Amino acid sequence: MSLPRMRLLVLLAAILSGQSTPSLSPTGNETAGIAARQACTQLESSLGPLVQSSGDAYEAAATNAWNLQNAEYQPTCIVFPRTSAHVQVAMKAIYDAESHYAVQAGSHSAMKGWNTVQNGVLIIFSNMKNASYDKVADSITLQPGIHWLEAVTALEPYGVAPVGGRVGGVGTGLLLGGGLSWLSPSQGYAADTFKALDVVLVTGEMVTATATNEYADLFRALKGGGNRFGIVTRYELHAVHTGTKDAKTYFGGQIIYNSSAEALLKATARYVREVNDPKAVILVSLINMVVAETLVPLYFVALFYNGPDLPVDIFGDFLSIPAVTSQLGPLSYLDVAGSLGLGDGRGFVQHFGASALVGDDDLFLDAFNHWSNFSKAFQDDFNTTTLAFTPIPDSQIQAGRANGGNIIDAPSGGFAAVQIYETFRSGIDDIPADVQRGIDVLFEQIPPSPGLPLYLNECDSQQKVFETYGGYDELKDIYAKYDPTRFNVRHTQGPVGL
Ligand SMILES: *[C@@H]1O[C@H](CO)[C@@H](O)[C@H](O)[C@H]1NC(C)=O
Ligand SMILES: *[C@@H]1O[C@H](CO)[C@@H](O)[C@H](O)[C@H]1NC(C)=O
Ligand SMILES: *[C@@H]1O[C@H](CO)[C@@H](O)[C@H](O)[C@H]1NC(C)=O
Ligand SMILES: *[C@@H]1O[C@H](CO)[C@@H](O)[C@H](O)[C@H]1NC(C)=O
Ligand SMILES: *[C@@H]1O[C@H](CO)[C@@H](O)[C@H](O)[C@H]1NC(C)=O
Repeated sequence: MSLPRMRLLVLLAAILSGQSTPSLSPTGNETAGIAARQACTQLESSLGPLVQSSGDAYEAAATNAWNLQNAEYQPTCIVFPRTSAHVQVAMKAIYDAESHYAVQAGSHSAMKGWNTVQNGVLIIFSNMKNASYDKVADSITLQPGIHWLEAVTALEPYGVAPVGGRVGGVGTGLLLGGGLSWLSPSQGYAADTFKALDVVLVTGEMVTATATNEYADLFRALKGGGNRFGIVTRYELHAVHTGTKDAKTYFGGQIIYNSSAEALLKATARYVREVNDPKAVILVSLINMVVAETLVPLYFVALFYNGPDLPVDIFGDFLSIPAVTSQLGPLSYLDVAGSLGLGDGRGFVQHFGASALVGDDDLFLDAFNHWSNFSKAFQDDFNTTTLAFTPIPDSQIQAGRANGGNIIDAPSGGFAAVQIYETFRSGIDDIPADVQRGIDVLFEQIPPSPGLPLYLNECDSQQKVFETYGGYDELKDIYAKYDPTRFNVRHTQGPVGL
């Protein structure tokens, strides 16, 4: 059988069955290229200069992705919508042409292929970055292109903040993966603060989903479902009254250590087991920097308390471990939100992986030992490797439930989201096969504790995160309802398991 004829049959089979998962490889294929060109031609005529297939704006946007792997794709065209209506037009053209596509908001995804596309249409939200506060409704409205430090800075004069990401350059994609925030211990996952969402479905139809209207199921799925359920073009969120920049109502900062891993791991495990104060929040990052072919430890704890000091019964262990530097003091929420910087270093490969652990000393020490072995085994490839712990206290889980619950549906009781994060040295533009095998070995060595959900925003693209959600079965049903032809799964990359 000739090749073109075979391709046609494969395509037909895919359409008829509605089930197959065609190749979404970075290079795509000819058939995909033809479909994308058809969508782009249609969009050039309906949206004019909001669609670019080459030139400076195109190149700048295509190469801007945070992870170098994603900066190397060349979408067939890029759409720069200014309104939800533009997104509807784009999505309908993509759907009608059966084109591959991707959506990019903050650009900060580490997952290869999740925020860009080859032989497909890329929708980029760089022209939709508004933030506003409605005092009467006490809600914040964000357009999808804004980044977290921009949003917090824009809303600080009103004394309010959204529950958003901890790294300033991250964008609103964080919300769709659940989202961990400095405000999470009191407010829940970032997605738990949704009030209303404008969602463009795969067909181009737009709906507004809330906790109580006919799209309540979709609303719930968007609290953890990532990019699989539609394109959110407007987020209406509960406002948190964090104060203006003059209100130094927080205390904390950062402590840096260069040894004492065991003491730090035990302090972190104890924190996870015992601390359930919604005013307290920490992030513990054990980093190995590769300097002159050796691993140099740099262990970093960010710790904040919504109060005048750091209570010793909560933070005492961290305060008593010998540190290299310690920068602690009174802070506004704007200070807290800016404390990790923008995290926008570009031009190298970034990779995430996820686990989730209950607060058990031995589990934490085991994870560290496996990660240390892994770091050493591939140190020639890395610039930095990181093992990070974010406690998710029971107060966070209960706050989410009180607000209607999310599809992650974590069990009661605290645990830690564990992030395994590598940056690669310059000169490496894709993850070498042996390193990926090492990563997979590491995932087997540090499995999530039974029943705990993985954090979508810090996973490897192949990890089966949805399967770990308490609401997995419900998620599959909601997906089948809103995308009966499985268009999203067949035409864009993202979390597996639907
Ligand atoms: C090529 O892309 C088309 C369009 O998405 C897809 O249906 C088909 O399965 C792909 N063919 C191969 C051989 O991957
Ligand atoms: C943009 O934000 C401003 C206030 O920050 C608000 O007045 C305006 O309505 C917003 N526009 C859109 C399109 O959301
Ligand atoms: C840690 O830092 C201290 C003080 O800067 C230094 O004296 C010590 O040698 C360092 N230890 C390691 C293991 O790098
Ligand atoms: C590697 O890390 C060093 C800091 O240790 C940094 O200055 C440098 O830019 C990094 N290089 C790459 C390619 O990431
Ligand atoms: C250390 O890492 C290497 C590379 O992934 C792996 O082959 C080996 O089994 C690991 N050793 C231990 C003790 O985990």
